[in-house]
Amino acid sequence: MPSPAPVSWIVVADPAALALAAAQRLLARIDANAGRAAIGLAGGSSPKQLYQLLASDAYSKRIPWDRVHWFIGDERFVPAGDARNNMLMAREIFLGRFAPRDHIHPIPTDVADPDESANRYERELKSFYGADDFDPARPLFDLVLVGVGPDGHTASLFPNYPAIAETNRWVVGVPKAHVEPFVPRVTLTLPALASCHEMLFEIAGEEKHAILTRLLAGENLPANRARSIGKTVFLVDRAAAGGDLRGG
Ligand code: 6PG
Repeated sequence: MPSPAPVSWIVVADPAALALAAAQRLLARIDANAGRAAIGLAGGSSPKQLYQLLASDAYSKRIPWDRVHWFIGDERFVPAGDARNNMLMAREIFLGRFAPRDHIHPIPTDVADPDESANRYERELKSFYGADDFDPARPLFDLVLVGVGPDGHTASLFPNYPAIAETNRWVVGVPKAHVEPFVPRVTLTLPALASCHEMLFEIAGEEKHAILTRLLAGENLPANRARSIGKTVFLVDRAAAGGDLRGG
């Protein structure tokens, strides 16, 4: 397997500094695009502080809400109002207050099964993008936000699951999760996540140190295979980095 593409590592003091750095990068990506911008959000608990910051006066006033569209990299196949729904968290914390309704693009879970959901979301992404194939000169997303699970998964691409090997589809259903919550998932694939100007990993807390060490060792894990065609940035706090990385 080819060795992972080079990435940038940024180490910050703590989760608050991490949220701040992520918010600044997100704004910079939106600013760099004078037209319609697209952001891929992440689920899990890591982006919560970032979302809270985006809801603050300081940030919400700087976001040009009328030209930003919000997508999600993966979803738990539970109703939109279920507390485990990834988009619900983003909606409750910031999107619901500021984003025009038709700029919020959730993965639909009110359909028969994860495969149908994946088909629909893929159609929605293709229609937004305006083509059925990715053009490397024109990434789908300005920024894709991702996290890393304890097993090295990212989005809902779990180690050794078929979804990680998908090269054609943009979105796929995942019948069974590898970690909690054990509900079916729907996830963007590696090529869809890759179609971005920047992929931004947020990794914080001592409990992430073990998996970070494995990533740094170059293990063949989904989080080491998810790479942007543009820039890939690992934003890490000191507790997660431990002694493995140095930084500000
Ligand atoms: C999900 C996520 C998942 C998440 C990682 C990290 O639906 O759970 O999209 O990929 O980003 O598991 O989760 P935490 O941020 O909760 O550690």
